[in-house]
Amino acid sequence: MTETTTSTATTTDGETTDVLVVGSGIAGCAAALSAAREGADVLLLTKATKPADASTDWAQGGISTTRNDPESLKEDIIAASDGTADPAAVDTLVNHADDAVEDVLIDTLEIDFDETADGDLDYTREAAHSEFRILHVDAATGTHILRPFLQHVDNHERIEVRQDTAALELITAEGRVHGVVSDEEPTGKPIYAGATVLATGGIGALYSRSTNPDDATGDGIAMAALAGADVTDMEYIQFHPTAYDGEDPFLLSEALRGEGAILRNGDGERFMDDYHSQGDLAPRDVVARAVEAEREATGEVVLDVSPLEFEADYPAIAEKCRDRGIEGDEIPVAPSEHFLCGGIDVDDRGRTSLDRLYAVGECARTGVHGANRLASTSLLEGLVWGLRAGDDATGFDPDIVEAPELLNRDPDLPARFAAEKFTRLQQTMDEYLGLERDPDEIARASAVLRRLKGEVDAYIRTRTARELYELRNASVTALLIARAAGENTESIGCHYVAADAGESMAEPPADD
Ligand code: SIN
Repeated sequence: MTETTTSTATTTDGETTDVLVVGSGIAGCAAALSAAREGADVLLLTKATKPADASTDWAQGGISTTRNDPESLKEDIIAASDGTADPAAVDTLVNHADDAVEDVLIDTLEIDFDETADGDLDYTREAAHSEFRILHVDAATGTHILRPFLQHVDNHERIEVRQDTAALELITAEGRVHGVVSDEEPTGKPIYAGATVLATGGIGALYSRSTNPDDATGDGIAMAALAGADVTDMEYIQFHPTAYDGEDPFLLSEALRGEGAILRNGDGERFMDDYHSQGDLAPRDVVARAVEAEREATGEVVLDVSPLEFEADYPAIAEKCRDRGIEGDEIPVAPSEHFLCGGIDVDDRGRTSLDRLYAVGECARTGVHGANRLASTSLLEGLVWGLRAGDDATGFDPDIVEAPELLNRDPDLPARFAAEKFTRLQQTMDEYLGLERDPDEIARASAVLRRLKGEVDAYIRTRTARELYELRNASVTALLIARAAGENTESIGCHYVAADAGESMAEPPADD
């Protein structure tokens, strides 16, 4: 995908930094920290205005370690991926996991992970883990890691954190990336960097139900793809089986089932043993499809938390339940978009196919997850690859090249345009590129998405506004997903091609 939507005007005004990091989740913070430890000056741009705008802050279950048994974690990762994870990438993860956790989370940030009554670290387990090896802080681990991490990088003398600032375009020349154009000025402000690290997170905003924050619009993936970077495995999107089935959905961590919570259908019956030998702790895609099937057959599925000390052990989730007016031990659940396993293709140091461009965290495809991700490996992957990429990204001088100057002829963005098109994009993704897919339906989705992107491109040529660029990024990313899904006719991991899924489906939503 090589089309770009910017004007042909260029500028060389701007500022410079050694390393530019875009994104403020665990991967972005780790990249910033390790580049700064190498002596680089780092600018961390984030469109977030608060930590909760990063998916890391929403992560519940925990962060896997190996507990000195990397081979066992490697086996579980490869099994969960249906044998598709890249063994070399998994080796990189498991061989650096414990040192990264010890160095950054325990020694530097002093995260108060939960402990047993004896004062030992309390390791938990989630689906498809053969061992208790996951560190956690009740089931609000992401928040407890990210907030001190952001504080730490913000206080670092070599790191500047600039909030509420979006990267709109990459600055490229002859196959090399020289930084980004940010939205700090009406026609964009160039920020030149020796190396640029994308850590922009996932794609939750492409679906109406997601466990990600609303601003997960695939920005890094779209910008990298438009600049010509390789993007891989985009069809592998993980749907979490247990998000609250109601207004303002939220995640009900797999840790709850790991500790004894039970799925029941609308008849009050347990059903997971009918679907998989691992019952409620079967692989996530199997549970998600089973939950959907039981919802259709019996009207609803609930997560029965009565076997747990729910209020005492999971206070953050219990609070969310109270906020939604959920009473009793049975929480209605439905699958929800959760994690993109594919993304910008990177090597073991986060290097993309474009010179001086790195990608880390959910926007990157390291090969660790293959077609399906093992629970509680995403924070770990972000941490390990963030540290490795930040370290590798140092030592380059920024070059001042011509950067795109964007047009802003009509600053009064009709917000309705962006909102309406987003709704249409989400409807298309929900209907045709969700839990189950069908080749004919994917082709219809592609047609709808191509038209949508054409409309957005026409609009963006003369207007510069963050919402429009987010919409452009979402539509580019959605098209990459549709293309990858259409090219892969085999059910594997979380890409499930149901032979007859399309027969009962309605026509695509009207174009406007
Ligand atoms: C969960 O807490 O269920 C999610 C953990 C993960 O996706 O890694």
